[in-house]
Amino acid sequence: MALKVGRGAEAPPFLVMDVISAANARAAALPPGAPPIIRMEVGQPATGAPRGAAEAAIRALQAGEPLGYTEALGVPSLRARIARHYAEQYGVEVPARRIAVTAGASGAFPLAFLAAFDRGDRVAMAAPFYPPYANILTALGMEPVLLECGPETRFQPSVAMLERLDPRPDGLVIASPCNPAGTMLPPEELAAIARWCEREGVRLISDEIYHGLSWGTVAESTAAAASASAIVVNSFSKYWSMTGWRIGWLVLPEDLLRPVECLAQNMVISPPHVGQVAAEAAMDCREELDAKKAAYARSRARLLDGLPRAGLDRIAEADGAFYLWCDIAHLTNDSLDFAARLLEGAGIAATPGVDFDRTRGARFLRLSYCGDEALIAEAAGRIGRWLGR
Ligand SMILES: Cc1ncc(COP(=O)(O)O)c(C=O)c1O
Repeated sequence: MALKVGRGAEAPPFLVMDVISAANARAAALPPGAPPIIRMEVGQPATGAPRGAAEAAIRALQAGEPLGYTEALGVPSLRARIARHYAEQYGVEVPARRIAVTAGASGAFPLAFLAAFDRGDRVAMAAPFYPPYANILTALGMEPVLLECGPETRFQPSVAMLERLDPRPDGLVIASPCNPAGTMLPPEELAAIARWCEREGVRLISDEIYHGLSWGTVAESTAAAASASAIVVNSFSKYWSMTGWRIGWLVLPEDLLRPVECLAQNMVISPPHVGQVAAEAAMDCREELDAKKAAYARSRARLLDGLPRAGLDRIAEADGAFYLWCDIAHLTNDSLDFAARLLEGAGIAATPGVDFDRTRGARFLRLSYCGDEALIAEAAGRIGRWLGR
């Protein structure tokens, strides 16, 4: 008799992971001496954790520390250090008990969604969006509600858009800077959205994983300053350059502290101990991290200069993160095919927009520029030659 397969199996793939596999296969098949593939498909800094973080992990291992389970919400010293970060970075007092350390931002989402919502609840988000928001909600039996956003609102939701939602959603996910567009919500708009959510009883979840990586036009602001009932998600993967260490965090409202703690105890026991040791040390490595950030800024400037001449001249106002969201409607109506040909013909791995926007993604391409700086410097030229410019 056929066995039942659960609802989780309905979660769509996170396509960028498939693009990574295709790029790996292409790189492995390159003849000796061929120009390397330029990896612009993944939001993973090419340089790893800051030295101080790696050294702290080595010290812990050499000291024979047991590195066992920690408290479900993380080691107290890291929670306190993250709380201090809110005071120093944003001037917001967040008590350490409201910080939950998680296995990356990815590990934070199921905890936050399960604590805040029930099956069948509707959770709004801008489209284009980071695919796992919708895919995790769907796997948990919740319903993503997509708000089509374009350049007129910097690909971000607005209070006016939320006002039009009937019925009101149960939750709203925002991200500033966002992935894939790299655009930001100015502080006053983020605060207005947070106020609207409080007034309407809509749980706000603010993904702030790209904080630390903004390029000066719009100030970074945290939802933790705007609303005590908002859930903030953050991570050591991006500015802190520690993807593989799998450490992120939540700033939780009081009413969700114990629910998230109980869920974490049952679902993960604790985040990885060695990652927590390294993450705490990383918070004191600002100089090295700011040097990495300066490299992304140089790559961004080169691309914003070179891509328009190469034929990619419709790029979202990329205030932050390390992505460029390019409208390629004048070149194709099939971004999946375009990305495959770009890999084959120009040796550039990029992410097709269909991953991020189910209706309009076929005419968008996301380019990530946190990879190898010297190679990214060649990208616009290669694209231009491939497009016959
Ligand atoms: C917007 C956004 N949120 C969350 C994540 C997940 O990050 P991690 O699980 O590595 O902390 C990513 C990764 O690319 C992202 O782009």
